[in-house]
Amino acid sequence: MPQRRPDPVPAEPLPADFLARLARLEEAYLRSDDPVEQSGFGGGPERWRAEREVILRAVDRDGDFLDVGCANGCLLGCLCDWARERGIALTPHGVDIGPRLVELARRRFPGHPDRFRVANAWDWQPPRRYRYVYSLYDNVPPAFLREYVRRLAGRYVEPGGTLILGAYGSSSRGEPAFDVGRCLRRLGFPVGGAASVGDLPLTRVAWTRLPAGAAF
Ligand SMILES: C[S@@+](CC[C@H](N)C(=O)[O-])C[C@H]1O[C@@H](n2cnc3c(N)ncnc32)[C@H](O)[C@@H]1O
Repeated sequence: MPQRRPDPVPAEPLPADFLARLARLEEAYLRSDDPVEQSGFGGGPERWRAEREVILRAVDRDGDFLDVGCANGCLLGCLCDWARERGIALTPHGVDIGPRLVELARRRFPGHPDRFRVANAWDWQPPRRYRYVYSLYDNVPPAFLREYVRRLAGRYVEPGGTLILGAYGSSSRGEPAFDVGRCLRRLGFPVGGAASVGDLPLTRVAWTRLPAGAAF
């Protein structure tokens, strides 16, 4: 079980410059018509699958899958398709701070507008819990990460569900992906598994399964 150490509580809300950067990100994503680029990925469709399918290593059965920071929903659509190829049925849900990105995600999954929300993941109170919750570690500044992961586990994930933390590096800048497994361990979460793509590595995911029977 995660240990609860007293931490300095980060100042709320997220800093204005961080929020301004997210607003600029939405502008940048929407400059492209390409669904993968609208999700912030510039490496093309083959690398997209190679570097994102690894997330499914954390998925072992059917369930509701929330992408926290879903952008235009492209990753969710692909994960559902790739999971289906493995005989696993995922139901896509998303939340993003960018309203125009969420609108694109809603259009990608017509008939289910309520599965996609516009919200800041830092202070969002989800209306329900999900079996799988996937978030990039950099949805908040580093000083907020410990509390952010606790909130994801405590508010978002259903009992027995899985919290998946992800990180992407950059091949053009030679930047390895942040070590999310080490991060989860340092925060006191038992790491149920971890996986990576590439030598750098370019993608890292790590997950923790919450105890069944009680939410964290
Ligand atoms: C790099 S894209 C990730 C898209 C997709 N989830 C993936 O992993 O390929 C990051 C998205 O997360 C969103 N985001 C970042 N921080 C967020 C926050 N605190 N609350 C809500 N959305 C956030 C951004 O608006 C952006 O659309």
